[in-house]
Amino acid sequence: MQVHNVELTISAVRPEQYPDKYYPEIALSGRSNVGKSSLINVLINRRKYARTSSQPGKTQTLNFYNIEEQLYFVDVPGYGYAKVSQKEREKWGRMLETYFAQRKELRGVISLVDARHEPSELDKQMIEFLHYYDLPILVVGTKIDKIPRSKRNKAESIIRKTLQLNKNDGLVLFSALDKTGKDSIWNWIEEKANI
Ligand code: GTP
Ligand code: MG
Repeated sequence: MQVHNVELTISAVRPEQYPDKYYPEIALSGRSNVGKSSLINVLINRRKYARTSSQPGKTQTLNFYNIEEQLYFVDVPGYGYAKVSQKEREKWGRMLETYFAQRKELRGVISLVDARHEPSELDKQMIEFLHYYDLPILVVGTKIDKIPRSKRNKAESIIRKTLQLNKNDGLVLFSALDKTGKDSIWNWIEEKANI
């Protein structure tokens, strides 16, 4: 999809705040700093639309981006940032559980992992959680510009194995710098959102 019109519709915490215009929704989840906002910016061809930061844990709400009046990207706050209190962590968990379990418009989840490392325990829990709710999953291994080409297949198989992905789960390696993987990710989104 060629994107020209994007609007941050709302930053929501509770269901009453979710948009009341109904378009298919694609959520992006992953640990803090993995590159969710950067991926959104590449998908919509903007350099700095979704706020990216070197300061992890910045996105704290569900940010709904209206894409061409056809779908929403939902930027989900990252997990695993050490400086977040236990109380905030629980609040985050409830917010995600509510959204993932109840939102009828949700058509799929892009779950990002840092392709340079073996997925963490929290990455694994996220995939288990998404499997439990039977949501279509696309795992995106980020920052592959930092992995030599000769090691990318290996990185891919480590991700698939560690996260125990099944045959319906997609996996794409991605770089926000050189845009590797962008088209495959869009294809998956268009298929799941049926647009
Ligand atoms: P939170 O909102 O804090 O959860 O982080 P996020 O997942 O949205 O990460 P963000 O997109 O803000 O990126 C975090 C840092 O990683 C930034 O400094 C980005 O420039 C960098 N980054 C993101 N994607 C890539 C990539 O593909 N390659 C490289 N080399 N750096 C990246
Ligand atoms: Mg972000």
